Amino acid sequence: MASLGSRLVDIHTHVYLPRYAALLRSRTTVPRILTATRDGKPDDKLIILDHDTGRPVGPQYWDRDEKLKFMDRHGIDLSVVSSANPWLDFLPAPEAESMAAQLNEDLEQYCADSPSLTPSLKRLYGFGMLPLVPGISTTALLAAIEQISKLSYLKGIIMGTRGVGKGLDDEALDPVWAALERTGLVVFLHPHYSIEGQWGEKDNGHVLPLALGFPFETTIATTRLILAGVLDRFPALRLLLAHSGGVLPQLSSRLASCIEHDPVVASRLKHDARYYLGKLYFDAVAYGPEELGFVSDVVSRAKHYEHNTSVPANATFERGLGSGRMLFGTDHPFFPPLKGTDKWPSVVENLRAIDAVYGWSSSDKGGVRGGNALSLFDLV
Ligand code: URA
Ligand code: ZN
Repeated sequence: MASLGSRLVDIHTHVYLPRYAALLRSRTTVPRILTATRDGKPDDKLIILDHDTGRPVGPQYWDRDEKLKFMDRHGIDLSVVSSANPWLDFLPAPEAESMAAQLNEDLEQYCADSPSLTPSLKRLYGFGMLPLVPGISTTALLAAIEQISKLSYLKGIIMGTRGVGKGLDDEALDPVWAALERTGLVVFLHPHYSIEGQWGEKDNGHVLPLALGFPFETTIATTRLILAGVLDRFPALRLLLAHSGGVLPQLSSRLASCIEHDPVVASRLKHDARYYLGKLYFDAVAYGPEELGFVSDVVSRAKHYEHNTSVPANATFERGLGSGRMLFGTDHPFFPPLKGTDKWPSVVENLRAIDAVYGWSSSDKGGVRGGNALSLFDLV
């Protein structure tokens, strides 16, 4: 049996639990699953995005055995599974509240019934869900956090970018951040809406909203959260960003400079903007070694900005240090192979990228492949 240090752990992998899939099937407006057959076989389509013509959807989206088969095929030992977008965003508050409670119990059972990896570890853990919709009460949100923190296989929550309707810089969320910080649940921040696109008139399929819109949405939501001082007020919050934090690492010095030139904002924050990037966690779903290396550089320099607005001349950077906050993910069951290959190119690409980062030691790579996740989710 591989030692825990060499485990492959997938922290970005989704499910539409059967109860949620049934809800999507019952709907006549987006988001929905359109049930159809072709040549006598199921030909269902998942429609979740604007102007979406639908994508094929089947058991790989809800069946636990399919998840385990996928994991076995790619050598993944353990997965921390999250419900996929758009979560409960489209439901009225009372329905979102009861659906969240039921889906959290369902996900706990999904994990509890999974095979054991070791005598003390299962192969599946999960991120629960909060009923984050307009009109929901703080009491209901805190009750959901309490529920999740008591479920032994749920180690965090997945959250979109809208909060309760006004985004993640809404002070109404402060009690939620406080409870998440206190319970130590990891917050997986994931996009769904993309951004108001400059997408043009050409038919580019889902490429522009998925490749650019999703990461920009995460970038904007996280930046607003930083600018609102959330990471100053809740410094122990454990925030994990989807798709390697989008373009936040690339734009963080520009962000810092814009803040510097805007005294009202600058006086609100305790640190230079670049410092906060060292407080975040990033999935390693970036598909290229250069991008991963760059994110780890930005994370490793962050400490120099705790008290400064410029890096001291004698500062040293160790690329590997930043890798400690990066974690392998697949985005399964999205991005399936178009040809009948055994392994999914999207997964193989992300694994190769980790392996090829210039300046990461084998122990850094092992951390990103799984060791960092086992520590972050308290599984060691
Ligand atoms: N990945 C996701 O997580 N959701 C989508 O809708 C598409 C890709
Ligand atoms: Zn995803």
